[in-house]
Amino acid sequence: MSTATTEKGGTALCGSPRAADIPRLLYQAVTDPISSMQVVAQRYGGAVSVPLSRSRAFLVLSHPAHAEHVLVSHNDHYETAFTYRPLQEWIGLGLITSDGELWERQRRLIQPLFSHRRVTALAPHMIAATTRMVEQWATQAEGTVIDVGEAMSGLTLDIVGRTLLGADLTGEARRASEAVGVLQDAASSIVKNPLTWVSPRAAARMTPGLRRWTRSMRTLEELIDATIAERMAAPSSAAAPHDLLDALVGARDEQGQGIERRQIRDEIITFFMAGHETSAMALTWTLYLLSTAPSVRERLEAEVDAVLSGRTPGAADVESLPWTKAVLSESMRLYPPVWTIERDCVVPDDVCGIPVRKGSTVAVPPYLVHRHPDVWENPEGFDPERFIGARAAGRHRYAWIPFGGGRRGCIGNVFALMEMVIALVMISQRHRLDLVPGFDPRPKVTVTLRPRQPLLMTVHHRSS
Ligand code: HEM
Repeated sequence: MSTATTEKGGTALCGSPRAADIPRLLYQAVTDPISSMQVVAQRYGGAVSVPLSRSRAFLVLSHPAHAEHVLVSHNDHYETAFTYRPLQEWIGLGLITSDGELWERQRRLIQPLFSHRRVTALAPHMIAATTRMVEQWATQAEGTVIDVGEAMSGLTLDIVGRTLLGADLTGEARRASEAVGVLQDAASSIVKNPLTWVSPRAAARMTPGLRRWTRSMRTLEELIDATIAERMAAPSSAAAPHDLLDALVGARDEQGQGIERRQIRDEIITFFMAGHETSAMALTWTLYLLSTAPSVRERLEAEVDAVLSGRTPGAADVESLPWTKAVLSESMRLYPPVWTIERDCVVPDDVCGIPVRKGSTVAVPPYLVHRHPDVWENPEGFDPERFIGARAAGRHRYAWIPFGGGRRGCIGNVFALMEMVIALVMISQRHRLDLVPGFDPRPKVTVTLRPRQPLLMTVHHRSS
């Protein structure tokens, strides 16, 4: 094992497993990725390099300084990893899957659509969707059991449908959510297929289940294609877009060029995939964690009651709810919806003393960075207080990276935070959710971290 000095002056260990251990490690990486990463991090230190061939390695880096190096200060040495490529089969070349000039142009065009001002204008849709959900719960008998993952997916789908497409997808929630789930499972199966290392496209075509995935993709396309076609035929005013689709149709670069129809479709599907399941899972795990920590939940309810006095929240309230935001931050620390971020090295690099050869793949998993013992005391504990006041001060800037970092960081972070705060506040005003015993909190690892079995909770009405 070699020792290297980090950019922040600490020490990072870079381990290299014995050749005899590599097949077992790779098998474990496929069958139980999170445990395997934890094992390598504990056994080999904050960084491990698994040689795959003479010139190529798979590195797992878990120190915040590594995250800063790969995602921010030296991001020009990397592009999106080959592990993201199977997604191109379905979502095409949207922001997540594109690189180079196409990505640069699209990001420049789309970034302004996610500004604080634009997202604030979308808040009424978020409030209306959450109102529909909590009012529906209110009509149910005290103690009704619900599947929280399903409810949160329905909520975020409703929000994404209205804010992206101006469409009511509530009737399609189950169908769309299932389709996204199938596609996520598919992307994970493809990445686990060793052929992916040689040809992601061939692996996507040859991994079993292709028909089911194609069907799921068609479901999503059906939901959005007609809306896109209609809007392109009759766009709303670009000066006053009603939703993100309007804004995309109206977006122009410096030369006055707009976005082509195919590209709009790829971007909308990308937002759909990236923006629906991630927030749904963050809310799901938050409600689970709150049910395990009564004092944290009581403090959240007290904050909500004190700040809002029973009125409906608005976008401006988000800043006045520090405990609510700390609860969400701590929940995404423990269960980061995007649990790993991966890059392929295109220019040889040296990450805090760890050599990275061109062609190697580097993983900087938020799941591990969020548990790094140099930064996080009692890393497995649910303790939102760590995000408040003095305890939050002085922490490495990239110790908490649920939204990634650098120029490829999440474009939807302001959107996500706003919808999640609004949802958590409105749920807490009206209801209290208690865990039905027997839930296994170990996550199922797909593109996002999902509960491995339905998260069942009983709904109690706070006002009654
Ligand atoms: C809790 C909710 C969310 C989490 C945890 C999350 C997390 C992330 C992360 C970690 C990345 C970076 C991936 C990488 O570097 O490889 C990312 C990128 C992205 N996210 Fe999010 N996201 C969330 C919500 C959203 C929403 C609501 C939208 C849009 C409506 C969205 C759209 C995107 C897009 C388009 C990218 C690609 C950006 C690029 O490469 O330029 N995300 N997200």
